[in-house]
Amino acid sequence: MISPDKVAEILETARVEEIVEDHVTLKRRGANLLGLCPFHNERSPSFTVSPAKGIYKCFGCGKAGNAVNFLMDHDQLTYPEALRALAKRYNIEIEEVELSADQRQQLNEKESLSIVSKFAAEYFKQQMMETQNGRAIGFSYFKERGFTNETIEKFQLGYSPDEWSAFTDKALEKGYQLDYLSKTGLTIVKEDKKFDRFKGRVMFPIHNISGRVLGFGGRILTNDKKAAKYLNSPESEIYHKSKVLYGIYFAKKSIVANDNCFLVEGYTDVISLHQSGVENVVASSGTSLTTDQIRLIKRYTPNITILFDGDAAGLKASFRGIDMILEAGMNVRVVLFPDGEDPDSYARAHSKNEINEFISDNSKDFIKFKTDLLLQEAGKDPIKRAGLIKDIVDSIALIPDPIIRSVYIQECSSLMGMEEQMLLNELNKVRTTKLNKKIASEERRSAPASQELPTPDFFNEDSSEPMPLLRKENYQERDIIRIMILYGHHELLLEVDKDEKGTPIKEPFKLLEVILADLQEDNIEFEDPIYSSIYKEFIAAFDQENLLEEKYFIHHADDSIRNMAIDLLSQPYELSEKWEAKHQILTHHETDDLFGALQSGLNYFKFKKLDTLKELKQKQLEHSNAPDEYTDILVDIMKIDASRKKLAQVLGIVISK
Ligand code: CTP
Ligand code: MN
Repeated sequence: MISPDKVAEILETARVEEIVEDHVTLKRRGANLLGLCPFHNERSPSFTVSPAKGIYKCFGCGKAGNAVNFLMDHDQLTYPEALRALAKRYNIEIEEVELSADQRQQLNEKESLSIVSKFAAEYFKQQMMETQNGRAIGFSYFKERGFTNETIEKFQLGYSPDEWSAFTDKALEKGYQLDYLSKTGLTIVKEDKKFDRFKGRVMFPIHNISGRVLGFGGRILTNDKKAAKYLNSPESEIYHKSKVLYGIYFAKKSIVANDNCFLVEGYTDVISLHQSGVENVVASSGTSLTTDQIRLIKRYTPNITILFDGDAAGLKASFRGIDMILEAGMNVRVVLFPDGEDPDSYARAHSKNEINEFISDNSKDFIKFKTDLLLQEAGKDPIKRAGLIKDIVDSIALIPDPIIRSVYIQECSSLMGMEEQMLLNELNKVRTTKLNKKIASEERRSAPASQELPTPDFFNEDSSEPMPLLRKENYQERDIIRIMILYGHHELLLEVDKDEKGTPIKEPFKLLEVILADLQEDNIEFEDPIYSSIYKEFIAAFDQENLLEEKYFIHHADDSIRNMAIDLLSQPYELSEKWEAKHQILTHHETDDLFGALQSGLNYFKFKKLDTLKELKQKQLEHSNAPDEYTDILVDIMKIDASRKKLAQVLGIVISK
């Protein structure tokens, strides 16, 4: 973890134009810099960098962000990785390991677990390389498997001594806390005894996408059939088996470059393929893929090729898991390895080109593969063939893209020798059933809410119900947010009282203060989730006497908020006509006009909300059959109308009814 202070320092120091210029040639154009966008192909430059605002934006492809985002996008880095890269470039030191006892205490648990794991990886490596037993047992094992020194170094392989508590003793001696040793699973604590979990095993550290050690796999060296061949770290706060893919840190660049991810079963498959130069490969570590793992791959490519070393039966068992990949909208191909070979053995005996050639020659599209396999099994048996249709169509129905679905339907119809229309009917049946289920479950979820419609006492101070949500257009919401971000810190002189002679007494207020007070008074809520979270952040910060400014939002860690802020700041807005005039006033920085514009902005915003609320009430009225309720709703509508009229007068809007 990088401390928030360090993050702030990095963001302060990094110059977006310098970072971009490491990769793009920029020319000055007024206050901005202009160049060819590195994210899409273009002949005339539309990639703009604003040094003053610290952001870039491509008007061709829409990519936008700050220095951190640029590195994340351009170099495929995670947020912390990009921060570290910036820190390195600007010589900002990030202390993560060498900490005093005091500082160590302050770190939260996750960080502590991570630090313990890092220490363990170093210890196992040192044991293997620098002790006699380590070299004779661990190192020689890896050498026998054909791993080179570079490979061993790259994957940080190691050896855990064959003693009950060698590692634990060392770690405790170094000041690492038993609590963390136990929580990472490196040490097993039983009553007052402590044991090393990985005693006498060769060690494979498991890294996250940024190269931090999360956990370990430890392979036994004896042929003891009773002991597990691999022992893995237990689940901990940092190690979630279902979210990790072995090798992702070493593979991600190559996955992007090849626009394909090879998926294998084991640690050694990944390592051997890497050693042969095939680097776009990760392992699920012996289990079938989880949705989290699929999402992880999807960050880098929509294409997965599964390298199988099992038999057809094992393969069939994994069909369900593969369906999940289809459901994620990814393209899946499968390769079967020849009998007795696995990616590990194949990689050791073949060159990079041979391996890639083998994979591209032998990989089959999953749906076609499944169809072929099931057809073979069904033979001529009509009942089995009927079952097979359903099985295949179930898989196809999961694919989100309708065009891809229809291509598969065509292909399968010819593979199975069946009419396309028949398959289509089946597909529609499956999809309709699924859709109905989905609708039903959503209705169940939303039913209670719609029965408790808010009945606010419009614009009265004591109203505690939130105002209803805007439905269709959100430009009112957006412009309020924009004013808050851009002009929130502007000061307004507002009349607070009059003196004896009747001259107004004015006091300075921050614009943001005025807006927040006004919106909160009326219990206004934002419909758009992004605006809503921006609004909530404003309030939370304001409660701490903090006025958030544009800089805060364009460096925001949340992608959607940051992109929204950048868009608000860098794009010309299509304003509604009524608003345009007022915004021009806003840019004049005349405080009185600013306030006037803001007020009508807020009023317009509320007017819109009243419209929505009225619509809602009218619907309720139509469906109401209890006389009491009917009257209540009518009264509500009358109140709404009164408020609308008042607002309309202020706004100069003519209302038709
Ligand atoms: N695995 C595991 N626990 C086991 C066996 C296997 O976690 N008891 C996982 C490991 O991640 C392993 C993968 O499943 O890498 C594949 O298992 P297997 O094919 O048996 O292992 P290999 O990687 O081929 O190991 P080796 O070549 O060293 O025998
Ligand atoms: Mn193997």
